[in-house]
Amino acid sequence: MEFMDFDERVTSTNQNRDDEGVELSLRPKKLDDYIGQKTATENLKIFIEAAQMRNEPLDHVLFYGPPGLGKTTLAGIIANELGVDLRITSGPAIERAGDLAAILTNLNENDVLFIDEIHRLNRSVEEVLYSAMEDYALDIIIGKGPSARSIRLDLAKFTLIGATTRAGNLSAPLRDRFGVVSKFELYTIDELKQIIKRSASLLNISVDEASLEEMAKRSRGTPRVSNRILKRVRDFSQVKGSGSIDLEITNETLDSLGVDEYGLEGLDREILRMIIERFKGGPVGIDTIAASIGEDRITIEDVYEPYLIQSGFLHRTQKGRMVSEQAYKHLGIALPE
Ligand code: ADE
Repeated sequence: MEFMDFDERVTSTNQNRDDEGVELSLRPKKLDDYIGQKTATENLKIFIEAAQMRNEPLDHVLFYGPPGLGKTTLAGIIANELGVDLRITSGPAIERAGDLAAILTNLNENDVLFIDEIHRLNRSVEEVLYSAMEDYALDIIIGKGPSARSIRLDLAKFTLIGATTRAGNLSAPLRDRFGVVSKFELYTIDELKQIIKRSASLLNISVDEASLEEMAKRSRGTPRVSNRILKRVRDFSQVKGSGSIDLEITNETLDSLGVDEYGLEGLDREILRMIIERFKGGPVGIDTIAASIGEDRITIEDVYEPYLIQSGFLHRTQKGRMVSEQAYKHLGIALPE
């Protein structure tokens, strides 16, 4: 059993205790209600229909991209559209090959198995997955030494949906067994506005257009952050405002949470400031950044960097990361000569 890291920053893209209930109630159940990720969803729609026409399981699907972008939600929708059961687990939760065998032997025909953080599966578990994905079979070794023999156990045909923050971390044999590979992108402001509008309506909150825009702008491209911000603004408006959400209460909430006008919060600004003050704005290597900030490299690359890059504060170059002019301006630091 793994313990979750309950990260309480409002812009954290990790799932926290607070999100569980809300995310479940706000999660769309149909493909048509899913906003954004157009390339992924339009393709999936066709693959789902084709699989259903042939009465076959959908090909195995790999989702990769930053956390909080709706990979689990989309897996749920796929199972729902296919009319099959969804079983959710994660790489670190499957400790032994036997754990995976138990899950696989309990699947019914065409069911969907979702494995989050699939890059964290250990090697012996991963090897069991190969024959399961390719032949819908488990090879089990019985006995030890010279009398050991292998028997093959047939499984129901199923679809594996794997999710990871980066496809590059998967071993080649695992990656090659996915027929469909979809990259998740950060959401646009417009898409986030639609998501917040939908969530507000499900939660029975009234929100004006300016507040929608402001919440979307400060959500770092991530629906999980949008929904969390919406809930905090709702709290503020209930206690301090009229109950309906306007720009004043939105700004007050976001400012009190330390989220600035671009959706950056403490550590984002610290990264930019550190590169400017200690490395003259860069270029500087990712490992140096990680060591200077005291975060691990993977977290910086997967969680902080994508949004800093998308919002134009940071650039990746051959020689390392460089901050942009916009970063100097935003932090109020004079540009070097
Ligand atoms: N809630 C979280 N992500 C969503 C999305 N992509 N579409 C609709 N609602 C969402």
